[in-house]
Amino acid sequence: GKGNFRHFMEKEIYDQPEAIAHTLHTVIDPGTGVATLPYPLEDAESVSKITILAAGTSFYSGLTARYWLESIGGVACEVDLASEFRDRKAVLPKGGVVIAVSQSGESLDTLMALRHGKSLGQKVLALVNVPESTIARESDGVLLTRAGPEFGVASTKAFTAQLTAFLGLAIALGQARGHIDKDEVLRLVTALEGVPGRVAEALKDTSAYHAIAHELSRAKDVLYLGRGLSYPIALEGALKLKEITYVHAEGYAAGEMKHGPIALIDEHVPVVIVAPSDGWFDKTASNMAEVRARGGRVILLTDAHGAKELGGSADHLVVLPDVAPEVAPILYSIPVQLLAYLAAVEKGTDADQPRNLAKSVTVE
Ligand code: F6R
Repeated sequence: GKGNFRHFMEKEIYDQPEAIAHTLHTVIDPGTGVATLPYPLEDAESVSKITILAAGTSFYSGLTARYWLESIGGVACEVDLASEFRDRKAVLPKGGVVIAVSQSGESLDTLMALRHGKSLGQKVLALVNVPESTIARESDGVLLTRAGPEFGVASTKAFTAQLTAFLGLAIALGQARGHIDKDEVLRLVTALEGVPGRVAEALKDTSAYHAIAHELSRAKDVLYLGRGLSYPIALEGALKLKEITYVHAEGYAAGEMKHGPIALIDEHVPVVIVAPSDGWFDKTASNMAEVRARGGRVILLTDAHGAKELGGSADHLVVLPDVAPEVAPILYSIPVQLLAYLAAVEKGTDADQPRNLAKSVTVE
Protein backbone atom coordinates (compact mmCIF):
# COMPACT_ATOMS: atom_id res chain seq x y z
CA GLY A 1 0.00 0.00 0.00
CA LYS A 2 0.84 3.69 0.10
CA GLY A 3 1.41 3.80 3.86
CA ASN A 4 1.35 7.39 5.04
CA PHE A 5 1.89 8.80 1.58
CA ARG A 6 -0.77 10.62 -0.42
CA HIS A 7 0.06 8.84 -3.68
CA PHE A 8 2.04 5.86 -4.86
CA MET A 9 4.21 8.31 -6.77
CA GLU A 10 5.17 10.07 -3.55
CA LYS A 11 5.90 6.78 -1.80
CA GLU A 12 7.95 5.59 -4.76
CA ILE A 13 9.99 8.82 -4.75
CA TYR A 14 10.81 8.13 -1.10
CA ASP A 15 11.56 4.45 -1.84
CA GLN A 16 14.56 5.49 -3.89
CA PRO A 17 17.42 5.21 -1.39
CA GLU A 18 16.45 1.56 -0.94
CA ALA A 19 15.70 0.90 -4.63
CA ILE A 20 19.10 2.29 -5.60
CA ALA A 21 20.94 0.40 -2.86
CA HIS A 22 19.35 -2.93 -3.83
CA THR A 23 20.04 -2.42 -7.52
CA LEU A 24 23.59 -1.33 -6.81
CA HIS A 25 24.36 -4.60 -5.11
CA THR A 26 23.11 -6.74 -7.95
CA VAL A 27 25.87 -5.21 -10.09
CA ILE A 28 28.55 -4.44 -7.52
CA ASP A 29 29.58 -6.97 -4.89
CA PRO A 30 29.20 -5.19 -1.54
CA GLY A 31 32.16 -7.05 -0.01
CA THR A 32 34.77 -6.77 -2.73
CA GLY A 33 33.49 -3.78 -4.71
CA VAL A 34 33.86 -5.85 -7.88
CA ALA A 35 31.37 -5.13 -10.64
CA THR A 36 30.26 -8.18 -12.59
CA LEU A 37 29.02 -8.32 -16.16
CA PRO A 38 25.84 -10.18 -17.12
CA TYR A 39 25.57 -12.34 -20.23
CA PRO A 40 25.85 -11.32 -23.13
CA LEU A 41 28.32 -8.67 -22.02
CA GLU A 42 30.61 -10.89 -19.97
CA ASP A 43 33.11 -11.19 -22.85
CA ALA A 44 33.56 -7.43 -22.60
CA GLU A 45 36.41 -7.02 -25.07
CA SER A 46 34.47 -8.56 -27.94
CA VAL A 47 31.52 -6.18 -27.59
CA SER A 48 31.71 -3.95 -30.68
CA LYS A 49 28.80 -1.67 -29.92
CA ILE A 50 25.87 -1.27 -27.56
CA THR A 51 22.49 -0.17 -28.90
CA ILE A 52 20.03 0.90 -26.22
CA LEU A 53 16.33 0.68 -27.10
CA ALA A 54 13.54 2.00 -24.90
CA ALA A 55 10.55 4.31 -24.60
CA GLY A 56 9.67 7.29 -22.40
CA THR A 57 11.49 7.56 -19.13
CA SER A 58 13.41 4.34 -19.83
CA PHE A 59 14.70 6.01 -23.01
CA TYR A 60 16.08 8.86 -20.90
CA SER A 61 17.96 6.42 -18.70
CA GLY A 62 19.44 5.10 -21.94
CA LEU A 63 20.51 8.60 -23.02
CA THR A 64 22.26 9.03 -19.69
CA ALA A 65 23.87 5.60 -20.01
CA ARG A 66 25.41 6.50 -23.35
CA TYR A 67 27.69 9.04 -21.66
CA TRP A 68 28.75 6.45 -19.08
CA LEU A 69 29.17 3.52 -21.47
CA GLU A 70 31.37 5.60 -23.77
CA SER A 71 33.43 7.62 -21.29
CA ILE A 72 33.74 5.01 -18.53
CA GLY A 73 33.08 1.76 -20.41
CA GLY A 74 34.97 2.70 -23.58
CA VAL A 75 32.25 1.13 -25.75
CA ALA A 76 30.58 2.71 -28.79
CA CYS A 77 26.97 3.31 -27.90
CA GLU A 78 23.82 4.46 -29.59
CA VAL A 79 20.39 5.04 -28.09
CA ASP A 80 17.18 4.87 -30.04
CA LEU A 81 13.51 5.20 -29.35
CA ALA A 82 12.05 1.72 -29.63
CA SER A 83 9.18 2.98 -31.78
CA GLU A 84 11.61 4.52 -34.28
CA PHE A 85 14.24 1.82 -34.32
CA ARG A 86 12.13 -1.01 -35.62
CA ASP A 87 11.12 0.86 -38.74
CA ARG A 88 14.63 2.05 -39.47
CA LYS A 89 17.07 0.02 -41.54
CA ALA A 90 19.75 0.30 -38.88
CA VAL A 91 23.22 -1.00 -39.72
CA LEU A 92 24.62 -2.76 -36.70
CA PRO A 93 28.03 -4.39 -36.40
CA LYS A 94 28.90 -7.99 -35.68
CA GLY A 95 29.45 -8.48 -31.97
CA GLY A 96 26.93 -5.80 -31.11
CA VAL A 97 24.66 -6.03 -28.08
CA VAL A 98 21.19 -4.51 -27.77
CA ILE A 99 20.04 -3.45 -24.32
CA ALA A 100 16.24 -3.31 -24.11
CA VAL A 101 15.30 -1.10 -21.16
CA SER A 102 11.83 -1.33 -19.67
CA GLN A 103 10.41 -1.00 -16.19
CA SER A 104 7.42 -3.20 -16.97
CA GLY A 105 9.16 -5.45 -19.46
CA GLU A 106 5.92 -5.30 -21.45
CA SER A 107 6.10 -2.14 -23.61
CA LEU A 108 5.19 -3.41 -27.05
CA ASP A 109 7.38 -0.88 -28.85
CA THR A 110 10.40 -2.05 -26.88
CA LEU A 111 9.53 -5.71 -27.39
CA MET A 112 9.22 -5.23 -31.17
CA ALA A 113 12.51 -3.30 -31.23
CA LEU A 114 14.20 -6.11 -29.32
CA ARG A 115 12.98 -8.64 -31.89
CA HIS A 116 14.18 -6.39 -34.69
CA GLY A 117 17.60 -6.14 -33.00
CA LYS A 118 17.77 -9.93 -32.83
CA SER A 119 16.93 -10.18 -36.52
CA LEU A 120 19.91 -7.89 -37.18
CA GLY A 121 22.22 -10.39 -35.48
CA GLN A 122 22.50 -8.65 -32.12
CA LYS A 123 22.58 -10.39 -28.76
CA VAL A 124 20.04 -8.88 -26.37
CA LEU A 125 20.30 -7.94 -22.71
CA ALA A 126 17.07 -6.95 -20.95
CA LEU A 127 17.24 -4.28 -18.25
CA VAL A 128 13.86 -4.69 -16.59
CA ASN A 129 12.17 -4.35 -13.22
CA VAL A 130 9.86 -7.35 -13.68
CA PRO A 131 11.78 -10.64 -13.91
CA GLU A 132 8.97 -12.71 -15.43
CA SER A 133 8.14 -10.13 -18.11
CA THR A 134 7.95 -10.78 -21.84
CA ILE A 135 11.02 -8.66 -22.60
CA ALA A 136 13.03 -10.58 -19.99
CA ARG A 137 11.88 -13.92 -21.41
CA GLU A 138 12.75 -13.03 -25.00
CA SER A 139 16.23 -11.69 -24.22
CA ASP A 140 19.52 -13.61 -24.13
CA GLY A 141 20.40 -12.21 -20.74
CA VAL A 142 18.67 -10.23 -18.01
CA LEU A 143 19.88 -7.52 -15.66
CA LEU A 144 17.29 -6.71 -13.02
CA THR A 145 16.61 -3.40 -11.44
CA ARG A 146 15.51 -4.06 -7.89
CA ALA A 147 13.23 -1.09 -7.45
CA GLY A 148 10.31 -3.20 -6.24
CA PRO A 149 6.85 -2.93 -7.80
CA GLU A 150 6.11 0.50 -9.25
CA PHE A 151 2.42 1.47 -9.22
CA GLY A 152 2.45 5.19 -9.99
CA VAL A 153 1.98 5.68 -13.73
CA ALA A 154 4.85 8.18 -13.77
CA SER A 155 8.05 6.21 -13.41
CA THR A 156 10.36 7.35 -10.59
CA LYS A 157 12.24 4.69 -8.65
CA ALA A 158 12.53 2.42 -11.69
CA PHE A 159 14.34 5.26 -13.48
CA THR A 160 16.98 5.86 -10.80
CA ALA A 161 17.38 2.08 -10.47
CA GLN A 162 18.00 1.86 -14.24
CA LEU A 163 20.58 4.63 -13.97
CA THR A 164 22.28 2.78 -11.11
CA ALA A 165 22.42 -0.49 -13.05
CA PHE A 166 23.77 1.29 -16.13
CA LEU A 167 26.53 3.07 -14.22
CA GLY A 168 27.51 -0.23 -12.58
CA LEU A 169 27.58 -1.82 -16.02
CA ALA A 170 29.74 0.98 -17.41
CA ILE A 171 32.23 0.60 -14.55
CA ALA A 172 32.38 -3.18 -15.05
CA LEU A 173 32.88 -2.77 -18.81
CA GLY A 174 35.56 -0.09 -18.35
CA GLN A 175 37.40 -2.32 -15.91
CA ALA A 176 37.17 -5.44 -18.08
CA ARG A 177 38.20 -3.57 -21.24
CA GLY A 178 41.08 -1.82 -19.48
CA HIS A 179 39.54 1.55 -20.28
CA ILE A 180 39.81 2.77 -16.67
CA ASP A 181 42.45 1.88 -14.08
CA LYS A 182 42.03 0.41 -10.61
CA ASP A 183 41.98 3.76 -8.84
CA GLU A 184 39.28 5.06 -11.15
CA VAL A 185 37.19 1.91 -10.59
CA LEU A 186 37.51 2.40 -6.85
CA ARG A 187 36.60 6.09 -7.07
CA LEU A 188 33.50 5.38 -9.16
CA VAL A 189 32.33 2.42 -7.08
CA THR A 190 32.74 4.51 -3.92
CA ALA A 191 30.78 7.37 -5.49
CA LEU A 192 28.00 5.01 -6.57
CA GLU A 193 27.82 3.36 -3.15
CA GLY A 194 27.37 6.79 -1.61
CA VAL A 195 24.31 7.62 -3.73
CA PRO A 196 21.56 6.06 -1.54
CA GLY A 197 22.78 8.20 1.37
CA ARG A 198 22.89 11.39 -0.72
CA VAL A 199 19.41 10.69 -2.10
CA ALA A 200 18.09 10.18 1.44
CA GLU A 201 19.64 13.53 2.41
CA ALA A 202 18.03 15.24 -0.58
CA LEU A 203 14.63 13.84 0.45
CA LYS A 204 14.91 15.01 4.04
CA ASP A 205 14.11 18.68 3.56
CA THR A 206 11.74 19.61 0.77
CA SER A 207 10.79 23.06 2.08
CA ALA A 208 12.50 24.77 -0.87
CA TYR A 209 10.20 22.99 -3.32
CA HIS A 210 6.77 24.31 -2.38
CA ALA A 211 7.05 27.84 -3.75
CA ILE A 212 8.59 26.48 -6.96
CA ALA A 213 5.90 23.81 -7.37
CA HIS A 214 3.29 26.52 -6.90
CA GLU A 215 4.84 28.58 -9.68
CA LEU A 216 5.18 25.58 -12.04
CA SER A 217 1.59 24.48 -11.47
CA ARG A 218 0.40 27.88 -12.71
CA ALA A 219 2.74 28.24 -15.68
CA LYS A 220 1.68 27.80 -19.27
CA ASP A 221 5.08 26.65 -20.50
CA VAL A 222 8.14 25.49 -18.64
CA LEU A 223 11.61 24.80 -20.00
CA TYR A 224 14.16 22.41 -18.51
CA LEU A 225 17.81 22.83 -19.45
CA GLY A 226 20.87 20.69 -18.86
CA ARG A 227 24.16 19.82 -20.51
CA GLY A 228 26.02 16.55 -20.77
CA LEU A 229 24.87 14.15 -18.08
CA SER A 230 22.21 16.64 -16.99
CA TYR A 231 20.58 16.85 -20.42
CA PRO A 232 18.59 13.62 -20.09
CA ILE A 233 17.53 14.72 -16.59
CA ALA A 234 16.15 17.92 -18.12
CA LEU A 235 14.18 15.79 -20.61
CA GLU A 236 12.92 13.58 -17.80
CA GLY A 237 11.92 16.59 -15.68
CA ALA A 238 9.87 18.01 -18.54
CA LEU A 239 8.17 14.65 -19.20
CA LYS A 240 7.27 14.22 -15.52
CA LEU A 241 5.78 17.71 -15.31
CA LYS A 242 3.69 17.45 -18.45
CA GLU A 243 2.33 13.99 -17.81
CA ILE A 244 1.05 14.60 -14.30
CA THR A 245 0.22 18.34 -14.28
CA TYR A 246 -0.68 18.85 -17.98
CA VAL A 247 1.54 21.94 -17.97
CA HIS A 248 3.42 22.17 -21.24
CA ALA A 249 7.12 21.56 -20.65
CA GLU A 250 10.12 20.88 -22.87
CA GLY A 251 13.61 19.71 -22.05
CA TYR A 252 16.52 21.05 -24.06
CA ALA A 253 20.25 20.63 -24.18
CA ALA A 254 21.31 23.98 -22.69
CA GLY A 255 23.53 24.68 -25.70
CA GLU A 256 20.56 24.36 -28.05
CA MET A 257 18.71 27.32 -26.49
CA LYS A 258 20.35 29.84 -28.78
CA HIS A 259 19.34 27.78 -31.82
CA GLY A 260 15.64 28.43 -31.36
CA PRO A 261 13.91 27.86 -28.03
CA ILE A 262 15.31 31.07 -26.56
CA ALA A 263 12.63 32.85 -28.60
CA LEU A 264 10.10 31.46 -26.09
CA ILE A 265 11.66 33.14 -23.08
CA ASP A 266 9.87 35.95 -21.32
CA GLU A 267 8.95 36.75 -17.72
CA HIS A 268 6.14 34.17 -17.80
CA VAL A 269 8.32 31.17 -18.62
CA PRO A 270 9.97 29.40 -15.70
CA VAL A 271 13.24 27.73 -16.72
CA VAL A 272 14.49 24.86 -14.59
CA ILE A 273 18.25 24.57 -14.92
CA VAL A 274 19.90 21.30 -13.90
CA ALA A 275 23.47 22.28 -13.07
CA PRO A 276 25.65 20.32 -10.67
CA SER A 277 29.18 21.76 -10.56
CA ASP A 278 30.78 19.50 -13.13
CA GLY A 279 32.74 19.97 -16.34
CA TRP A 280 29.67 21.47 -18.04
CA PHE A 281 28.84 23.94 -15.30
CA ASP A 282 30.48 27.09 -16.73
CA LYS A 283 28.79 26.67 -20.08
CA THR A 284 25.42 26.04 -18.46
CA ALA A 285 26.00 29.18 -16.36
CA SER A 286 26.36 31.26 -19.51
CA ASN A 287 23.12 29.76 -20.90
CA MET A 288 21.48 30.72 -17.61
CA ALA A 289 22.71 34.28 -18.10
CA GLU A 290 21.10 34.32 -21.56
CA VAL A 291 17.79 33.26 -20.01
CA ARG A 292 18.04 35.98 -17.38
CA ALA A 293 18.94 38.62 -19.93
CA ARG A 294 15.59 37.91 -21.62
CA GLY A 295 13.63 38.15 -18.40
CA GLY A 296 13.12 34.39 -17.89
CA ARG A 297 12.47 33.06 -14.38
CA VAL A 298 15.31 30.83 -13.28
CA ILE A 299 14.88 27.79 -11.02
CA LEU A 300 18.37 26.52 -10.34
CA LEU A 301 19.11 22.98 -9.18
CA THR A 302 22.72 22.82 -8.08
CA ASP A 303 25.13 22.09 -5.20
CA ALA A 304 26.79 24.35 -2.63
CA HIS A 305 29.51 25.47 -5.02
CA GLY A 306 27.01 26.18 -7.79
CA ALA A 307 24.80 28.08 -5.37
CA LYS A 308 27.74 30.25 -4.37
CA GLU A 309 28.52 31.03 -8.00
CA LEU A 310 25.02 31.52 -9.37
CA GLY A 311 22.51 31.42 -6.54
CA GLY A 312 22.27 35.21 -6.39
CA SER A 313 20.94 35.44 -9.92
CA ALA A 314 18.33 32.68 -9.63
CA ASP A 315 14.68 33.30 -8.70
CA HIS A 316 14.55 29.96 -6.90
CA LEU A 317 17.31 27.72 -5.69
CA VAL A 318 17.46 24.05 -4.69
CA VAL A 319 20.79 23.03 -3.18
CA LEU A 320 21.67 19.35 -3.38
CA PRO A 321 24.40 17.41 -1.57
CA ASP A 322 27.86 17.28 -3.16
CA VAL A 323 28.54 14.20 -5.28
CA ALA A 324 31.03 13.06 -7.90
CA PRO A 325 29.89 14.40 -11.30
CA GLU A 326 29.41 10.87 -12.68
CA VAL A 327 26.62 10.05 -10.21
CA ALA A 328 24.92 13.46 -10.31
CA PRO A 329 22.17 12.39 -12.77
CA ILE A 330 20.89 9.87 -10.22
CA LEU A 331 20.75 12.49 -7.45
CA TYR A 332 19.32 15.26 -9.67
CA SER A 333 16.43 13.01 -10.70
CA ILE A 334 15.04 13.59 -7.20
CA PRO A 335 14.33 17.34 -7.47
CA VAL A 336 12.76 17.05 -10.92
CA GLN A 337 10.47 14.27 -9.68
CA LEU A 338 9.54 16.18 -6.52
CA LEU A 339 8.82 19.37 -8.44
CA ALA A 340 6.47 17.56 -10.81
CA TYR A 341 4.79 15.68 -7.98
CA LEU A 342 4.32 18.73 -5.75
CA ALA A 343 3.09 20.79 -8.72
CA ALA A 344 0.45 18.09 -9.35
CA VAL A 345 -0.59 18.23 -5.70
CA GLU A 346 -0.81 22.05 -5.94
CA LYS A 347 -2.91 21.82 -9.06
CA GLY A 348 -5.06 19.00 -7.76
CA THR A 349 -4.41 16.59 -10.63
CA ASP A 350 -4.11 12.87 -9.82
CA ALA A 351 -0.40 12.08 -9.98
CA ASP A 352 -1.04 8.33 -9.87
CA GLN A 353 -3.64 8.23 -12.62
CA PRO A 354 -2.88 10.91 -15.21
CA ARG A 355 -5.44 11.21 -17.98
CA ASN A 356 -4.87 9.26 -21.20
CA LEU A 357 -1.99 7.20 -19.76
CA ALA A 358 -1.54 3.57 -18.78
CA LYS A 359 1.19 2.02 -16.65
CA SER A 360 2.34 -0.28 -19.40
CA VAL A 361 1.76 0.47 -23.02
CA THR A 362 1.02 -2.71 -24.92
CA VAL A 363 0.03 -1.16 -28.23
CA GLU A 364 2.33 0.22 -30.93
C1 F6R B 1 6.89 8.19 -17.80
C2 F6R B 1 6.58 6.79 -18.01
C3 F6R B 1 6.59 6.24 -19.40
C4 F6R B 1 7.34 4.91 -19.43
C5 F6R B 1 7.29 4.29 -20.82
C6 F6R B 1 8.12 3.02 -20.90
O1 F6R B 1 6.81 8.54 -16.46
O2 F6R B 1 6.35 6.09 -17.07
O3 F6R B 1 7.17 7.16 -20.29
O4 F6R B 1 8.66 5.15 -19.02
O5 F6R B 1 5.96 4.02 -21.17
O6 F6R B 1 7.67 2.08 -19.98
P1 F6R B 1 8.53 0.80 -19.64
O7 F6R B 1 9.78 1.30 -18.96
O8 F6R B 1 7.68 -0.02 -18.73
O9 F6R B 1 8.84 0.12 -20.92
